[in-house]
Amino acid sequence: MLFKYDIQEDLQNTEGLNGDEQVLVITDTHTRALIRPTDYPTLVLRAGEAHKNLHSVEKIWDFLHTHEATRKSLLVCIGGGTVTDMGGFAAATYKRGMRYINVPTTLLAMVDASTGGKTGFDHHGLKNEIGCFYPPFATRIHSEFLQTLPPEEFLSGYAEMVKHALIGSANEYKHLLRFDIEEYLAYQAHPRRDFLLPEMHNYSVELAGRIEASIEIKANIVAQDPREKGIRKALNFGHTIGHALEATSFIRGKQLRHGYAVMQGLVGELYLSCAVAGLNKKVLQQISHLMIDAYGHVDYACEDMDRLLQLMAQDKKNNRAGEINFTLLQKVGEPIVDQVVNKELIQEAVEYVFSL
Ligand SMILES: NC(=O)c1ccc[n+]([C@@H]2O[C@H](COP(=O)([O-])OP(=O)(O)OC[C@H]3O[C@@H](n4cnc5c(N)ncnc54)[C@H](O)[C@@H]3O)[C@@H](O)[C@H]2O)c1
Ligand SMILES: [Zn+2]
Repeated sequence: MLFKYDIQEDLQNTEGLNGDEQVLVITDTHTRALIRPTDYPTLVLRAGEAHKNLHSVEKIWDFLHTHEATRKSLLVCIGGGTVTDMGGFAAATYKRGMRYINVPTTLLAMVDASTGGKTGFDHHGLKNEIGCFYPPFATRIHSEFLQTLPPEEFLSGYAEMVKHALIGSANEYKHLLRFDIEEYLAYQAHPRRDFLLPEMHNYSVELAGRIEASIEIKANIVAQDPREKGIRKALNFGHTIGHALEATSFIRGKQLRHGYAVMQGLVGELYLSCAVAGLNKKVLQQISHLMIDAYGHVDYACEDMDRLLQLMAQDKKNNRAGEINFTLLQKVGEPIVDQVVNKELIQEAVEYVFSL
C-alpha cells in the first residue's frame, strides 16, 4: 500500500509546537500524491530543479501573503531539496523570517538538503546563486517516502551518504559497506514486493538507521562551523571533481544527476587522498567497485580534460587564483581541508575515474 503522509499527526508529534499555530503547506506536483488530504492551505509547485527560481519563490511569498501568514505561522515544506531549499528561503525572507519545518521526501533531501540551514534558489543559470543561512524549526524524517523514489534519485542521495561516512566515521563506513544497495533496489523494483515484506522490512529498518547516522554526521560538522569557514568544507569532499564533471556533462547536453557526479568525484578525490594524504588504497578500491556496480561506467571523452581543469580552477571554494583546493582524507573519518593539489596529479585522478 502506498504510504500517505499525515501532516496533522506529524505536527502533533513535533516537539515545541503548541498546536494552535497557523499551518501552511508547500509541496510539488509529484509529492502531493504522497500526502493525506488536509484542510491546511497547500501550494503545489512545479516539480524539479528547472523550477527552482525566483518565480517559484514569489509564488510562495504570494501564497503566504494571501493567507495572511504572520511571523508566528508555520510553513511546512514537503518534498525534495528543491522544495525545502525554496521554502526555507521564502520563510527566511517573509516578514523578515517565519518558522518552517522540512519534511524531506528524497534521500538527498533527508541526508543533505534538509540539514545545515542553507536555503536558496538558482538564478541566471547559476545553482543556488541567491540564498541565505536559515535553519528549519524542525526536520521530520519518514523513510517510507522512499518507497516511491525512482532508483536514480535514490542513488543520487546515496552518494552523499557515502561521502558522510567517509569523512565522518570509520564505524559508519563499515555499516554502509555492508548495506547491499543493489539488492535493496532490486526489492524496491519487484512487482510483487508486498509479498517480500519481511525482507523489505529488514532493509527498511537498516536504511532508516543509516539515514539517521548520516544526518548526525552532517549535523555535527555543521554545528562546529555553521558558516563554512573551516571544517564544514569537509562536506565538499568529492565535490571539486564532482561539480566539474556535472558542469561538463551539462555543457555537452547530457544531464548528469548531482549524486552520480559526486560518486565519480569521490573516487577521483579518494585517488588524490591515496597519492598525497596517505589514505589506504583499500578504500579507493571499495568505492571504485561501488561506483562501477551501482552507478555504471563513466562516459567522458579525453577532450573534456582541459575543460574539467578549467572548471575546477574557477571553483568558488579556491582561496587563490590558479590554485585548486580539495578536501582530502588521511583515513576514513579524518578529513583535511584546504589542500592544494597540482594539475598533473588531478589529471591522473580524473583519468583513473575515466578508466573504470
Ligand atoms: N540546502 C542544502 O544544503 C542542499 C544540499 C544538497 C542539495 N541541495 C539542493 O537539493 C536539490 C536536489 O534535491 P532533490 O534531489 O531532492 O531534488 P528535487 O526536489 O528536485 O527532487 C527530485 C525529483 O524527485 C521527485 N520526488 C521527490 N520525492 C519523491 C518521492 N518520495 N517519490 C517520487 N518522486 C519524488 C521530485 O518531485 C523531483 O521530480 C538541489 O536543488 C540542490 O541544490 C541543497
Ligand atoms: Zn552534494
